[in-house]
Parts: sequence; structure tokens; C-alpha cells
Amino acid sequence: MSKVRLGVNIDHVATVRNARGETYPSPLRAALKAQKSKADSITIHLREDRRHINDNDLKLIKSKLKIPLNLEIAATKEMLRIALKNKPSFICIVPEKRKEITTEGGLNLNYNKKFLREIINKLKKNKSRVSLFIEPSLKDIKRSKYLNADCVEIHTGKFCNLVNENKNYKKELNKIRSSVLLGNSLGLEVHAGHGLTYKSAKILSKISGIKEFNIGHFLIGESIFQGLANTIKQFKKIIN
Ligand code: PXP
Repeated sequence: MSKVRLGVNIDHVATVRNARGETYPSPLRAALKAQKSKADSITIHLREDRRHINDNDLKLIKSKLKIPLNLEIAATKEMLRIALKNKPSFICIVPEKRKEITTEGGLNLNYNKKFLREIINKLKKNKSRVSLFIEPSLKDIKRSKYLNADCVEIHTGKFCNLVNENKNYKKELNKIRSSVLLGNSLGLEVHAGHGLTYKSAKILSKISGIKEFNIGHFLIGESIFQGLANTIKQFKKIIN
């Protein structure tokens, strides 16, 4: 069976740095440490308001990292320009609302389809692998294929909330499972992310066909206690 990849999202290293307006802790240092600890890729989300990762972080990390950089961006002209200039190996297009604390749901693929298709094709021509962050919905899997994405990343937030609250998550898990199946049968590479902990990642690891997990908030938080290298090691063990 092929190896399942772990993308380490380091946005919240920048959140801690920015809380005090200092130059530390350094997201670049976290990216290089994660790389050394066998992360398969590094994920950063350059938000419109630059609340965590900023343009300089992107430039620095892109220039020093040897493993693939996965840049999350909103579907805007500004972000398209930045992504084309920086040429990260991977790009994940995500929805963005100014007032949200985190990315609350998947993309609305019914909105602005022409622009989305245009962005995807431009990024692909520029040699970036393009993924769309979507809800676990069969309709959105089919739409992602139509839009010519290489991959989809399934938003696991609702599922993870149910797991954390010890509520019945079966229905949400089934939605994820059938989305993975359909995505794979259409030739899309399927990823999963948002809100994952050791417990929720372990449940999802039983679904074969998820090729990549992107994990940030819990992983960075847990690193305070276990260290980044140990936390990455544990997640890699879980997802494989
Ligand atoms: N995947 C995508 C597309 C995201 O936007 C995020 C962050 O919101 C994550 C994964 C990681 O989520 P978390 O920080 O909750 O692990």
C-alpha cells in the first residue's frame, strides 16, 4: 500500500509570533524542523489580512524548503498573482471570510465557476499541483473534476467537532468515505484536513484512498508538550 503523506501546517507558529509583534517563534525554523522530522510537505495559508503567515514568510520558506510547499490561498486576483510569482509545488484554494476565526467550511463551487476554472488552469500551467478545499459532498467532488483540479481536500471540521464532543459521527464519516471513493474513481487525488487530532486522524486513517492529511492547530499545540518531531512522528504513525 502506498504511503499516506503528512502535510504540516505551521500557520499557528506565526500566530504566536504575531501575538507579541516579535520575530520569534520563527515559521521558517518550524518548517525546517518539520522537514527534518520527516513531514512530507509544509502548508501555509497566506490570508488576505496576513493574520499569521505574511509575504516575507512565504518568500523565505519557499527559498529554503526542500520538501514541497503547499500554499493555501483564496480565489482572488491578488493571491493568484502571488502564487504565480512564488510557484509553490502545491496550491490549495480555500474559501476565506474576513471575520472567521478559521476556515469554516469548503468552497462554494457554484459561485464564480469561470474564474475558478481560469485560476486552476493558470496555476497548473505554472507547474503547481492544484487542490480545492471542499465539503464532503458528491456534488462538489464532481464539480471539482469538472473544474479540472488535480486534487480535492475534504474539510473534516464537522466530523472532528463530533468526535471531540463524543457525539455520533457515523453520518459525517459516511459522507467523507463516499466522497473519497467517488473522488478516487474520477481520478482525483483526495486529501483531508481541518480540526484533526490524534483521535479523529486515527478514525479517518481507516478509509483507504486518502493520500494526504494536512494538520496544523492540534499538531502545533501538542508540540508544546511533546516537541514538534515527536508529534509529527506520532501523526505519521497514525495515518499509516
Ligand atoms: N487544510 C486546509 C485547507 C486548511 O485551510 C487548514 C487550516 O484551516 C487545515 C487543513 C488545517 O486545519 P487545522 O489547523 O485545524 O489542523
